Amino acid sequence: MTRYWSEGGGVVPARRPGRVLLLVTTQSYRAGAFVEAAQRLGAPLTVGSERPQALAGFNPDGHLTLDFSAPEVAVEVIRRFAARRPLAAILAADDEGVLTAALAARALGLPHHPPEAVAAARDKYRMRRALAAAGIPTPRFHRFALDADPLALAREVEFPCVLKPLGLAASRGVIRADDPEQFAAAFRRVAALLGRPEVARPGDELARHLLVESYLPGVEVAVEGLVTGGVPRVLAVFDKPDPLEGPFFEETIYVTPSRLPAAARAAVEGRAAAGVAALGLSDGPVHAELRHHAGEAHLLEIAPRSIGGLCSRVLRFGEGRSLEEVILGAALGLESGGLERERAAAGVMMIPIPRAGTLAGVRGVEAARAVAGIEDVRITIPVGDELVPLPEGARYLGFIFARGGAPEQVEAALREAHRWLEFDIQPGPGAAPGVRADAGAERRW
Ligand SMILES: Nc1ncnc2c1ncn2[C@@H]1O[C@H](COP(=O)(O)OP(=O)(O)O)[C@@H](O)[C@H]1O
Ligand SMILES: [Mg+2]
Repeated sequence: MTRYWSEGGGVVPARRPGRVLLLVTTQSYRAGAFVEAAQRLGAPLTVGSERPQALAGFNPDGHLTLDFSAPEVAVEVIRRFAARRPLAAILAADDEGVLTAALAARALGLPHHPPEAVAAARDKYRMRRALAAAGIPTPRFHRFALDADPLALAREVEFPCVLKPLGLAASRGVIRADDPEQFAAAFRRVAALLGRPEVARPGDELARHLLVESYLPGVEVAVEGLVTGGVPRVLAVFDKPDPLEGPFFEETIYVTPSRLPAAARAAVEGRAAAGVAALGLSDGPVHAELRHHAGEAHLLEIAPRSIGGLCSRVLRFGEGRSLEEVILGAALGLESGGLERERAAAGVMMIPIPRAGTLAGVRGVEAARAVAGIEDVRITIPVGDELVPLPEGARYLGFIFARGGAPEQVEAALREAHRWLEFDIQPGPGAAPGVRADAGAERRW
């Protein structure tokens, strides 16, 4: 039985959900899934994004223009809107809007992670300090000003180490260094990235420093969770079966359920829950990343949002609900159906950009889709666009989705589908000098 209000679905409308304000960037991959979820729950939806929507005139309550880089101003706009159109839930789909969502939710008395917790989770240095203060084992970490001399700083750090921006995501600008020379080169590379106006606004506090951490060995997992009234629940644990050893940390395959032994999984889940409590995240989705090594789980980070990109499409709960339905349902205080993920194994591959250039063509998509277990292949960068690989790039070529009986099958299907894909990348605006056209052989399967 459907537990939610549904228009004309024959379900007794116990209570029509109130209005949801969804904060989402204009380029977000995440908007569609949340919009669909609101429709399925029967909740009226207003989308808040940084640019006016072309069709907003048809439904003046359907869109709010908000500047996420000025959260206090955005909160005032939301407050005025809510006086006219009461809001039952405010939720951000991506990192950019999550502080605004937290502040607005507090102003309106709606459940959400508190702004202080969100601010700590959005700044990797503050996060490390909060986790360490709560007694959670943490790698050694230092925050350095970007205008410092990296060769002098290199004397203070242990090798191997990882340099990273404080406020970016998707491994952008995250670089491993094994010695002082690599450290200095990585430092300059991160500084150059953060100096670009399209990456960080001038005056952005988070773009004046970088974080250096000792390198944590181990296998990496991601935990998708939902916190309600301070109680965290695990929705899914993903293995990341490709080695992530640097110097760049390109995410590729995510497969759930995790194949970690039960004790290791328990350690991972326990540590993620401790991190949630340490940061004070109380109401809303969380996406945590951890490494497991020598019997212990270490937290890499916890983001106060759900999984990024199109990855959530592999998750289904209870009677087939999407991750976004689960999150929205919880934010609206609706009676929740089961939060058990389906029994099937599922996985997604974020298709990495093998080298810089211009995407001239893609072949093999149909063949990749035809691989047993593959549900879909989506190429998300249009032909003609510039391709920028890590550590500077921020996009994937696309996503491959698979489902199957066991995680091994899902992983094998994703790898096989990826082998069918051929990307014609021409030297172009993004091509770094000296990168050969056949450098695609380096692409990790
Ligand atoms: N201290 C570390 N030790 C080992 N690997 C790390 C460390 N920090 C980050 N990484 C690797 O880099 C990836 C991205 O770093 P993370 O801190 O999660 O930043 P982002 O917000 O870009 O995802 C991680 O998923 C992990 O593979
Ligand atoms: Mg991360």
